Amino acid sequence: MALQLGDIAPDFEADTTEGHIRFHEWLGNSWGVLFSHPKDFTPVCTTELGYTARLKPEFDKRGVKVIGLSVDPLDAHRQWSKDIEETQGTAPNFPMIADSDREIASLYGMIHPNASDTLTVRSAFIIGPDKKIKLSINYPASTGRNFDEIVRVIDSLQLTAKHQVATPVNWKAGEDVIIVPSVSDEDARKKYPGGWKALKPYLRIVSQPKS
Ligand code: BEZ
Repeated sequence: MALQLGDIAPDFEADTTEGHIRFHEWLGNSWGVLFSHPKDFTPVCTTELGYTARLKPEFDKRGVKVIGLSVDPLDAHRQWSKDIEETQGTAPNFPMIADSDREIASLYGMIHPNASDTLTVRSAFIIGPDKKIKLSINYPASTGRNFDEIVRVIDSLQLTAKHQVATPVNWKAGEDVIIVPSVSDEDARKKYPGGWKALKPYLRIVSQPKS
């Protein structure tokens, strides 16, 4: 069965551009993003990896470790990194897994045989410090992902892990949030003495709590 939200992200060992890792040990207590790309030396993937490398300060700020994967070998990853630096301005500054035997791709359901029976689709998983899968997405090979959206989801997840709030449509860090229905008005009054705006009893909007 496909991995689902709330499942433990399967552990694995892998050879990466930054050495051999045991995934859970490598994650430690950090949040993680594990993402696959279909193939080295391809145009969309080149832009995705360059952009993700440029986002490193944003991931670092949020305590998130990023790791890429494709079914290509390490020497291809290393050669291709030079092209990424040349064309995108930044070489990958995170490990890239060489999953030539497709073991990890199969474990994570990254190969969708009706799309391609040899290459991974564009999967991404956000993994919490508890090693549970908090988000999973699958995009087709022809569509580059929006990594700003991945950062936005991390902001929402980290906020909701700390406070009993949810984030509304198109929310961005700093904007108003929603008090979750499981919090009674009585408890909400203690948490938010400044009050909130109730558009409906179940739709209570409040300023984003300070972290
Ligand atoms: C790309 O990254 O451009 C790509 C990879 C595999 C299939 C199609 C496009």
